[in-house]
Amino acid sequence: MFDKNTLRKQMKETLSKLSKPIYEDYSYKIASRLYNEDVWKHANIIGITVSAQPEVDTYQIIRKAWEEGKQVVIPKCYPKEKRLSFRTLTEFSQLESVFFGLFEPIVDLTTEIEPASIDLLIVPGLAFTRDGYRLGFGGGYYDRFLTNYIGESLSLAFNQQIIPQFAVEKHDIPVSKIITPEETVKIT
Ligand SMILES: Nc1ncnc2c1ncn2[C@@H]1O[C@H](COP(=O)(O)OP(=O)(O)O)[C@@H](O)[C@H]1O
Ligand SMILES: [Mg+2]
Repeated sequence: MFDKNTLRKQMKETLSKLSKPIYEDYSYKIASRLYNEDVWKHANIIGITVSAQPEVDTYQIIRKAWEEGKQVVIPKCYPKEKRLSFRTLTEFSQLESVFFGLFEPIVDLTTEIEPASIDLLIVPGLAFTRDGYRLGFGGGYYDRFLTNYIGESLSLAFNQQIIPQFAVEKHDIPVSKIITPEETVKIT
C-alpha cells in the first residue's frame, strides 16, 4: 500500500496535468452539485478554504455563498500548534498570501468565529477513499479540527482524487460526503 507522502507527490503530479478547460469544467460541475445539497441550502455559515492549484476551485463557491446571503468563514493556520481558526470573509481583498502561496484572512480586517457556529464545513484534501478517508496536505490540521467539530462536513474532489486505499492512521477522521463532477458519495 502506498504511504501518504508518495501518494501526495503522485496526486499533485496527476492533478497538475489537468488542462484549464477540464479543471474549469470539473470545478463547475462539482460546485453545481454542491448547491443542490440540502446541507448547502440550509447552511447560513459556510467554512471553506480558498483553493490553490490543484484543488477544486472554491472562488466560485465563495461568490455563490455571498450572493445567497450566506456568511463565509475561512481558516487561518497556526503552524506552531497546527491549529485552525476560522474568520469571516466578506471580500477577497481581505486575503493575504501567507506560506506556500496559500491565502488566509487578514486578522485586522476579519473577525474570528466559534467553530460551533459553522453549519457546513468544506474539508480540503488531496485524495479520498470511498469510505471517506482523506489524505490531506500533511499538516493534520483538519484531523485535529474535526475531533471537536460536530456540524456537517463534506469534501470536493475530482474523479482522479478518489483512490482505492492508502495507509490510513488512527488519527485520520473520515468525511461524511464527497462530491465529484459525476456523483455524490455518501459515507454512512
Ligand atoms: N488529533 C490529532 N492530535 C495530534 N496530532 C495529530 C492529530 N491528527 C493528526 N495529527 C498529526 O498530524 C500529522 C499529520 O497528519 P496526516 O494525517 O499525515 O496529515 P493530513 O491529514 O494533513 O494528510 C501526523 O504526524 C499526526 O500524528
Ligand atoms: Mg490525516
